[in-house]
Amino acid sequence: MAEPGGSGPIGPYPPGVETDEQRVEYDKLRRRVLWKMPSGLYVVGSRGPETRNLMTANWVTQLSFDPKWVGVGIENAALTHELIVQGASFSVCFIDREDRAIVRKFTKPVEFDETAQTLSGFPFIERVTGAPILAQSVAFLDCELREQVSAGNHTFFVGEVVDCGFLRGEQTPVLGMEDTRMNYGG
Ligand SMILES: Cc1cc2nc3c(=O)[nH]c(=O)nc-3n(C[C@H](O)[C@H](O)[C@H](O)COP(=O)(O)O)c2cc1C
Repeated sequence: MAEPGGSGPIGPYPPGVETDEQRVEYDKLRRRVLWKMPSGLYVVGSRGPETRNLMTANWVTQLSFDPKWVGVGIENAALTHELIVQGASFSVCFIDREDRAIVRKFTKPVEFDETAQTLSGFPFIERVTGAPILAQSVAFLDCELREQVSAGNHTFFVGEVVDCGFLRGEQTPVLGMEDTRMNYGG
């Protein structure tokens, strides 16, 4: 899933990897190693003047104690990329492990219903920044955009946590990549 570029192996290659066949093999190996990187699985919220969006993301991490910064890696072509820039904010929603099926709903374009305050039928709330937060999240981080770093075909957005909270019991197990059979990256 989501192979970068989708067109043949990507360098650089270590010594000894010279033929086309070796390059293809090395490319596959590197993908399998990268897939082994443990990570959580989140829903990232973003907003523009006209719309709201939620997307599934696993390239999410804390970056600093002081200030409280977190980063998300977002594909340059994604609507979320455009909206994080427009709204200068994003949310990170932590998903109940029991709700794992919903991440599939946010790997494709979502339908925003302003009157019902839903995205693809899922109610959302807004806190400080106005980036949508999935109402059924276990917990959320609401972040103001502080830095934007170009990272190949993705952009690493760095946000400061300006609000957060639990929407379900603190002990509720949250979803990680290992709870699914999905891949992203590699
Ligand atoms: C398991 C999984 C994890 C994903 N993680 C990311 C991610 O970290 N960053 C990203 O840009 N896209 C990620 N995606 C892809 C986006 O969810 C997908 O491209 C989505 O349609 C983008 O939505 P948007 O264009 O509405 O913003 C992931 C997809 C899956 C299935």
